Amino acid sequence: MTAARVAPERVALVTGGIGGIGTAICQRLAQDGFRVVANHHPSEQEAAQAWKNDQAGIGLDIDTIAGDVSSFEDSRRMVAEIKERHGPVAVLVNCAGITRDKTFKKMEEDAWRAVIDVNLNSVFNVTRSVWEDMLEAGFGRVVNISSVNGQRGQFGQTNYATAKAGMHGFTMSLAQEGAAKGITVNTVSPGYVETAMTLAMRDDVREAIVAGVPMRRMGKPDEIASAVAFLVADENGYVTGANLPVNGGLFMH
Ligand code: CAA
Repeated sequence: MTAARVAPERVALVTGGIGGIGTAICQRLAQDGFRVVANHHPSEQEAAQAWKNDQAGIGLDIDTIAGDVSSFEDSRRMVAEIKERHGPVAVLVNCAGITRDKTFKKMEEDAWRAVIDVNLNSVFNVTRSVWEDMLEAGFGRVVNISSVNGQRGQFGQTNYATAKAGMHGFTMSLAQEGAAKGITVNTVSPGYVETAMTLAMRDDVREAIVAGVPMRRMGKPDEIASAVAFLVADENGYVTGANLPVNGGLFMH
């Protein structure tokens, strides 16, 4: 277990916290001494309870909270509830994300809207809900989990790549607003990582993409969590507005 490098009881909220990458981020931040709260969709109540028990089983006390991050109202309610339970959020990791992959000619409006709402509008909804507390504290860390496909585009992902590229525009702009206030805002752009999301792809399509990764393998969720841990650590207060790729060399620029 890594030694605590932060003030005790600093509250970290991870949206999509019980998902593949979210889980690794929650575990790593808990190990680093944060009071971690994992957000999940309201429909996942049972899965979240089981997840919480699993974390307790490996010695990690991580709280869970339901909240539909695609809704501004529900995001505000969720953040207020976290504040009541633990205090204001000091670290926010926007990790909630979905795919609805389709070639553009087959893409229906609901597949477009769902991905923009969950992956991009959620970033506004939740960050806006914690921002004033971060300003008041004179400290904050926001990390947006984007994607290599927001940087380079991907056949079948006009919706997803748009949302993921948008996240980094948000990062660069808000980083400028937070810079003189003790708040950093950064993006992490994972490549293809071993999670349910990439497993849901057609095997042949996934294998062809992984064959093109210079490291010839998929990433591991812990490798994304490690990048997040770096960006939220107290000692890294001079990194802001950055986009940190963790993609095995799949895209460089
Ligand atoms: N470039 C150009 N043409 C391509 C292509 C590519 N990359 N991929 C496929 N095509 C062509 C095919 O050759 C085919 O051509 P013909 O019609 O002339 O035969 C045509 O496009 C249709 O291809 P598909 O058979 O793939 O079409 P489909 O409708 O069956 O499937 C799809 C569409 C589901 C979107 C599929 O293309 C796909 O899965 N794409 C990959 C999407 C992807 O990478 N998703 C990542 C999910 S994980 C994630 O998002 C995490 C993260 O951040 C990385």
